[in-house]
Amino acid sequence: MRSIEVCFSPELIHLHEVTGKLVVVVDIFRATSTMVAALAHGVTEILPFADLEACRAMQNQGYLIAAERDGLTAPGFELGNSPVAYTAGAYAGRKLAMTTTNGTLAIEKSKGAAEILIGAFPNLQATVTYIQSRDLDVLIHCAGWKGRFNLEDSLYAGALVQALGESHANREDGALAMGSLFAHEGNNLVTYLSQASHAKRLQNHGIEADIDFCLSLDLYNQVVGVSQNGELRIV
Ligand code: MLT
Repeated sequence: MRSIEVCFSPELIHLHEVTGKLVVVVDIFRATSTMVAALAHGVTEILPFADLEACRAMQNQGYLIAAERDGLTAPGFELGNSPVAYTAGAYAGRKLAMTTTNGTLAIEKSKGAAEILIGAFPNLQATVTYIQSRDLDVLIHCAGWKGRFNLEDSLYAGALVQALGESHANREDGALAMGSLFAHEGNNLVTYLSQASHAKRLQNHGIEADIDFCLSLDLYNQVVGVSQNGELRIV
């Protein structure tokens, strides 16, 4: 039986072994939800960056560029981090370079994994099915908020722990705790997560539609965002 564990923040990733594992990076509000929406609506490749200027420079190589800081579009960028911006297919066929406050940093800090998957509620079942097809131990890497625990990423971790209960043993307390939390709150996602601190931050910015999208279950059953061979290119 394979194992599954949870890392609650990029600040804690050094306490986990990444090498040889399948790492699922999750940033529900909103980075990984946006990546799944972009891939589902025709974006051909996503390059994540922790650094704003490195992301901006990709425009010279023909990439669409997107940047968010503290929930808002970063100065000098057209696109921020809204999943809804991609659902009309306006960017189909484009390659995307993006940087966000937490999510893209978590991806960068997962380098060295056998594979990196992008986790989000809109493609939860597709991700579960993909993981079950791979014979690898799983590490769920929550992006959190500026190094701190957040509720939405951790609850998603609980959803994966629950869904993979037959194939992946949760031998550590983080996975155990989140599995129990999801068992308790999983049918009450929208109400429960509307009290999350980043949901409130986004509501204060008048960003409601993104929250609804990010909490929608299984909109895309064929989309799995994955990067392999140590690359960070997500396809
Ligand atoms: C992040 O990376 O922290 C989030 O995606 C922030 C956001 O989009 O509001």
